[in-house]
Amino acid sequence: MMDICTDVLIVGTGVAGLFSALNIEADKKVIIISKTKADECNTYLAQGGISKAKNKDDTESFVQDTLKAGRHKNRKEAVEVLAKESIKNIDLLLSLGMKFDYKDEEFDYTREGGHSINRIVHSTDETGKMVFETLYKEAKKRKNISIIEDCILVDILKEDKSCYGGIVIKNGSVSLIHSKFTILASGGIGGLFTNSTNRRTSTGDGIAIAFRNNIELENLEYIQFHPTALYEDKDRERRFLISESLRGEGAKLKNINGEAFTDELLPRDIVSNNIWREQLRTGTDFVYLDISQMGEKFLKNRFPGIYKGCLARGLNFKDGVIPVTPVQHYFMGGIKVDLNSKTSMNGLYACGEVSCTGVHGANRLASNSLLEGLVFSRRAAIDINSKIDDKQLKVVKKDITLEKALQLKKENLSCALEQFKKVLGEKEHELINNR
Ligand code: SIN
Repeated sequence: MMDICTDVLIVGTGVAGLFSALNIEADKKVIIISKTKADECNTYLAQGGISKAKNKDDTESFVQDTLKAGRHKNRKEAVEVLAKESIKNIDLLLSLGMKFDYKDEEFDYTREGGHSINRIVHSTDETGKMVFETLYKEAKKRKNISIIEDCILVDILKEDKSCYGGIVIKNGSVSLIHSKFTILASGGIGGLFTNSTNRRTSTGDGIAIAFRNNIELENLEYIQFHPTALYEDKDRERRFLISESLRGEGAKLKNINGEAFTDELLPRDIVSNNIWREQLRTGTDFVYLDISQMGEKFLKNRFPGIYKGCLARGLNFKDGVIPVTPVQHYFMGGIKVDLNSKTSMNGLYACGEVSCTGVHGANRLASNSLLEGLVFSRRAAIDINSKIDDKQLKVVKKDITLEKALQLKKENLSCALEQFKKVLGEKEHELINNR
C-alpha cells in the first residue's frame, strides 16, 4: 500500500465507524480501516438490541433511566441528546434496510436491566450482526467509501497540535494515510482482560494512542462487567454472552441450590455485584439462569443465536438452566469528546466505545451502546461536513521504518495495559499481561 490522501480517515468498522462514514457528504473521499476483517468487530456480537424512546413522551423517562443506571455520573446534556435523537437514528437505520422484529405491527420492544419500560428494538438476539450487515452493505455500495481490512493504526500524524491522518501497517509495510479529518472508532478494551465478552483484538489501541499524544482521556476506571456470560471452566478466546434480554423476557437468576437471590432487572453493576456476592457465599464460580418456565419453542425462535451458541458448547435449552457469571463487557470511559464527538485535538474525532461522551456515566444502561454509536457518529459526520470545504489537506512528512512502526504497536499494547493496571488496583490480575 502506498501513502494515500483522503478527506476523512475512519479507524474501525463497527457501528460508529460505518455510520459516520455513511453520514459524510457523498462527494468527500472516505477511507475506513479495520485492524482485522471488517466483521470482526464487537458490534457484530451485540445481542440484546438498541434502546430508543418509544415516542416523544418517553424521552424524559429514558433520560432518567440512563442517569439512574449511570449513578448520575453521566453528562446530562449528552444523555438528553441520546434520548432525543434516538427515534430519528433508528428511522435512518430502517431507511438503510435494517430489519427489526415486529409484533402486532409495532416494534417487538423488549426489556433489559434498568429500563422502566420495554423500549429496546431488536432483531432476534443477533441485532449487532444485522446492524453491521446493513451498514457494511451500504458502505460497500458508496463510491466515495473504501474499506481497507487488516490495516493497523499505530499512531496519528500530527503537526501544530492538529491531527492530519494516521500511520498504519498493512501487508508487512508501513503507510501514511493523510486526511483532513480523522475519526477514531477503534472500540474497547476487553481484549486486555482474561475474561471478556469482547474480541481478543479489542486492546484499547485508541486509548493508548490518545494517551501517548496527550489527548484528553476520562473515567478510565468506569469498566462494566456484564452479569451473565456463559460460565465455562476452560480458557476461551472470549466468553459467550447470554443476553440480558433473556432476563427481560422472563429468565430468573438462581444460586446453585436453586434459590432466587436478586431482582434480575436491576442495572448491570448491581446485578453483577449480587452475583459475585452469591458466588462467594455459596463457594461457587457461577450461578444459574433458569429458563425452564419460558418454553423451548419460544426460546428457540426468540434467541436462535444463544440457542446455537449454547448447543455448540454442549448445553441444551432443554436442561432448563444456563451456568453464568459476570465478565468484563464494556468501557464507559475513554477519549473525552464534546457533543459533536470532537476530541481535545484539532482534526480528531472519536466515537463509539473508544470515546467518552459521558452518556453512560459510571455504568451503561443496557442496549445504549449501539445507540450511542449511531447518534454520536452521525454528529461527528455532520460537524465534519460543516468544516471540510474550508480545510486544506496538510501532508505531514514522516520517515518511519517497519521496525519502528512495529515498536509503536507493541508500545501501544503495553501503554493500554499500564493505564488499566493503574485504575484496577487489586483487580489487576484480571488483566492479561503482555498477550
Ligand atoms: C446484552 O444483550 O445483554 C448486551 C447488550 C448490551 O451490552 O447493552
